[in-house]
Amino acid sequence: MKVSIDFVNAPIPAAVEEVVDEGPDVKTFVIRYSRSREVLPGQFVMIFPDRMWEIPISVAHASRETIHLTVARVGRVTSALFRLGGGDRIGVRGPYGRPWPMDILRGRRVLFVVGGLGLAPVRMAIEQLGDVTLVYGARNPSLLLYRNLYRSWEKEGKRILLTVDRPDGEWRGHVGVVTTLLDGNLVKSHDYAVVAGPPIMMKFASRMLEELGMDSDRIFLTLENHMKCGVGLCGHCRIGDRYVCVDGPVFSLSEIRNLEGWASGEVI
Ligand SMILES: Cc1cc2nc3c(=O)[nH]c(=O)nc-3n(C[C@H](O)[C@H](O)[C@H](O)COP(=O)(O)OP(=O)(O)OC[C@H]3O[C@@H](n4cnc5c(N)ncnc54)[C@H](O)[C@@H]3O)c2cc1C
Ligand code: FES
Repeated sequence: MKVSIDFVNAPIPAAVEEVVDEGPDVKTFVIRYSRSREVLPGQFVMIFPDRMWEIPISVAHASRETIHLTVARVGRVTSALFRLGGGDRIGVRGPYGRPWPMDILRGRRVLFVVGGLGLAPVRMAIEQLGDVTLVYGARNPSLLLYRNLYRSWEKEGKRILLTVDRPDGEWRGHVGVVTTLLDGNLVKSHDYAVVAGPPIMMKFASRMLEELGMDSDRIFLTLENHMKCGVGLCGHCRIGDRYVCVDGPVFSLSEIRNLEGWASGEVI
């Protein structure tokens, strides 16, 4: 566990540039944020929308000057964020955390198994990798994120398999939880797997990936937990002997297998 010196920094004032509706109670905030270092896929920032509390949010996409944060409104701080619009100010610090292991994944066949909002923390990795299969599910079609990107990802040769738990009248695709799209041939034709989504979905997906032949040190997941400092000082994010903010949020399954509660949802 290492401590980031950025903790001494106060949040840096940044400006909301644009707010994009993604679905019911989910928005992407494009924020103009000058930062001292590059954002790596899978990292998060601490945001400070209400001058009271900070929360961690994954960086879904980054350009030189902006970060894109896709956020679900679930409580007090995310509701304060949802009241902001173009031109409003927000405090931001980071990026923080251990990113996806891009040096290992680059050039390999990578299977992404993703549920709901989990597409946000993997989006940059999908964008930066070539040989990718995305297996993505949501509760209903309106909760599938970034629908305008799928065509361009497919044009780049990425394969996308979609599913929903509850179809609407227009849905013509697969119906069922995301694990119903996994089979031995699919898993064996990939070198690594990346899993992101609700804890219970990650638990079942990673268990199934292992049963279908993927080694636990080739399965990577991103964990979430309550955070305060984001840099390894307060202990709020601890699961077992790991601090999600600095040892993660990305872990291999073999690293977290014995951490009690990682997939129970109780830690969140
Ligand atoms: C590394 C990391 C990356 C994250 N990335 C994103 C993201 O890209 N988009 C996004 O919408 N959310 C993300 N989250 C979750 C986000 O931080 C919480 O939803 C947020 O802190 C809730 O704040 P609130 O005040 O609105 O809700 P609260 O009033 O604090 O809580 C409302 C509900 O949300 C649950 N909750 C609170 N904090 C968390 C948490 N840290 N993780 C999961 N559930 C929580 C509570 O148990 C409660 O049920 C991330 C969390 C972590 C640790
Ligand atoms: S949030 Fe403080 S140690 Fe992780």
